[in-house]
Amino acid sequence: MNTRAAGLIRTEILALSAYPVPSSAGFIKLDAMENPYTFPEALKAQLMEHLAAASLNRYPDAAASALRTAIREAMGIPEALELVLGNGSDEIIQIIAAACAKPGATLLSFEPSFVMFKMIATFCGLDYAGVPLTADFEIDMKATRLAIQKYQPAVVFIACPNNPTGNLFSREAICEIISISTGLVVIDEAYFAFSCRSFLDEIANFPNAVLMRTVSKLGLAGLRLGLLAGHPEWIRQFDKVRLPYNINCLTQAGATFALQHYSALLDQATKLCAARTHLSAALADLPGVTVFPSEANFILFKVQDSKKTFDSLLSRKILVKHTGTSHPMLANTLRVTIGTASENAAFVAALRDAI
Ligand SMILES: Cc1ncc(COP(=O)(O)O)c(C=O)c1O
Repeated sequence: MNTRAAGLIRTEILALSAYPVPSSAGFIKLDAMENPYTFPEALKAQLMEHLAAASLNRYPDAAASALRTAIREAMGIPEALELVLGNGSDEIIQIIAAACAKPGATLLSFEPSFVMFKMIATFCGLDYAGVPLTADFEIDMKATRLAIQKYQPAVVFIACPNNPTGNLFSREAICEIISISTGLVVIDEAYFAFSCRSFLDEIANFPNAVLMRTVSKLGLAGLRLGLLAGHPEWIRQFDKVRLPYNINCLTQAGATFALQHYSALLDQATKLCAARTHLSAALADLPGVTVFPSEANFILFKVQDSKKTFDSLLSRKILVKHTGTSHPMLANTLRVTIGTASENAAFVAALRDAI
């Protein structure tokens, strides 16, 4: 490695590996929790008109006013909450971490959970504490109370439903974490559209909690748009860290139009929930496969030898996520995103041969 870079770059960055994104050309792509359906055909021509009308020669609306209105109306964001928008919710995590990164401050999350919490803590110079989940992937409140007492985290990230386990955490556990935390608690509802519960209507009751969402799992992953809803005092501070013009004009135009047709996106999510029920049952029928319950658009499952199964699926042109090596509690697991009916059928057929 270039010795000048090695001397200049922070040690913890040198020790990191970049977030892996495998090439998926020619594969049935079931690895990244994307919505398999394209934008509704009946609306595509109108979407294109909106995109064509965008002023590419100008900087985008820095306040993204029309998009905010569309988000508020589509998702029913309560009046008491303000919004900050991000280039995906990944950027929101980064904004929060950068704003909270006082020397010695800690970002706390749970393990296994979304890997970007830890990576972004490292990018921003925060210490990271990962509290292990229980064997059934619930929050271990005893360990969490001790960790909160020990680290006094500046910020706690709770992905609910959790990725990659797919479950919702107990509401009581989340409320207790909010009440005992002296720092900020971020509830990450990336998978809200596939789950039966949300904190949106009550988040305003908690002065130290905010709620994060993304449109990525709703069929708009390519637009890169995430949002944080919270009390105006939090949002005002985070908005200072957001880079100007972070939501480009095509995203603003496309997402505004798409969210004005929110019911079409939710219909796709409803179809995926029904497909999840079928796929879970089909997986559970396979010998040696253990399926974990999911409230998201993916399913975590366990096999006898996940590396062998993963390679075998790859050779059959099916790409899932090999979670088996990412955490000891996930040994021999794989995570599959719910696809179209034909993709799911091809996956189950390939898995039957692979195990
Ligand atoms: C729990 C969770 N939060 C946030 C994200 C980031 O989503 P995006 O940056 O696409 O909005 C993901 C992506 O998989 C996720 O699983």
